[in-house]
Amino acid sequence: MKKRLSTLERGYYWKYNLHKTKVLLFPNMGNFAIIMSMNKKRLVSGIKPSGRPHIGNYFGAMRQFVNLQEIHDSFIFIADYHALTTLQNRSEMSENIIEMAIDYLATGLDPEKVTLYQQSTISYHTELAWIFNCLTTMPYLMRAHAFKDSEAKNKEINVGVFDYPILMAADILLYDAVVVPVGQDQKQHIEIARDTAEKFNNTFGETFVLPEPLILENVKTVTGTDGQKMSKSYGNHIPLFATDDEIKKLVMSIVTDSGSSVPENVKALHLLFKNKKEVEKIYSDKEGKYKELKEALIEDMIAFIAPLRENRLKFEKDKGEVVNILKKGSEKANEIAQRKMKEVKEKIGVLLS
Ligand code: AMP
Ligand code: TRP
Repeated sequence: MKKRLSTLERGYYWKYNLHKTKVLLFPNMGNFAIIMSMNKKRLVSGIKPSGRPHIGNYFGAMRQFVNLQEIHDSFIFIADYHALTTLQNRSEMSENIIEMAIDYLATGLDPEKVTLYQQSTISYHTELAWIFNCLTTMPYLMRAHAFKDSEAKNKEINVGVFDYPILMAADILLYDAVVVPVGQDQKQHIEIARDTAEKFNNTFGETFVLPEPLILENVKTVTGTDGQKMSKSYGNHIPLFATDDEIKKLVMSIVTDSGSSVPENVKALHLLFKNKKEVEKIYSDKEGKYKELKEALIEDMIAFIAPLRENRLKFEKDKGEVVNILKKGSEKANEIAQRKMKEVKEKIGVLLS
């Protein structure tokens, strides 16, 4: 009879991790390292280069990109065509794109593991968006939050803003993404991508995978210095690569509710940088002492951000290499997108054989 080998004899065992990915573990080879990961799930996400990233972007999305890079087949991009809906300035755009690439690398994205690219270099994104446009009705897009907000403010918006969710659907569906890590404000956009995939599949046959958003409960909406959602456009953000002086100034400027004994918004920010037990201790030791609580937050924020800033300096020195990384990523993304577009064109009947 065939003897069943123990894990020790075999030297490895299979396990499903939290992300339902099957991984091979080698317990004898040190610290239970994940050596190989099979059937990696495709992950896609992007950030607009519309300004400097802030800690809301980091905890809501960027950190997940780094944490998941080992066990996912990740495609992370710079959403420059989405930024164009609001940023229409040549030098600022080019500068932001390269800075955004450096930011991604400084947070720990490894170009050996992640395909890192610039959205505008893959024309298939906008091409697919056009095809989706023809399947999407105006009333459907008029229900999108971002559009309704602009309407409510009587803003005269451009067609790009109106069509924003459809370009985003193309970004995601083109790569058969299964997981899309984002902050809460992007939830509706992922739903629109799912609806769009279903609409296409129902019309032309099974083609697109339905993506799932990955939104972490404790960081789904990081608040800014005024207590609202932290946003580049609200002027309430703390930059991810802020200097010590900026951190001090911004934390001290946080508006606190003088009625309560605990400044909840300061505490919520502190919980991003320190574990719950330690934060609770600080809050019981310094109860009601708002200034000291803010000082404690400053200390922890600096301890967290300073190494990221250091890391950034290394990449800043070699922008040529950063551009090379983007080019390589673009080549790989292009191959995958091209294959998918061929399938799409066949399905809709424009590809003659
Ligand atoms: P954006 O800067 O709008 O391109 O956003 C990039 C990513 O950061 C998206 O996944 C957003 O959902 C996420 N994000 C932006 N602001 C916040 C916030 N205040 N809290 C949590 N996530 C955020
Ligand atoms: N709309 C996203 C934001 O503002 C950025 C984005 C563009 C994106 N395309 C995407 C995020 C595709 C995830 C997947 O944050």
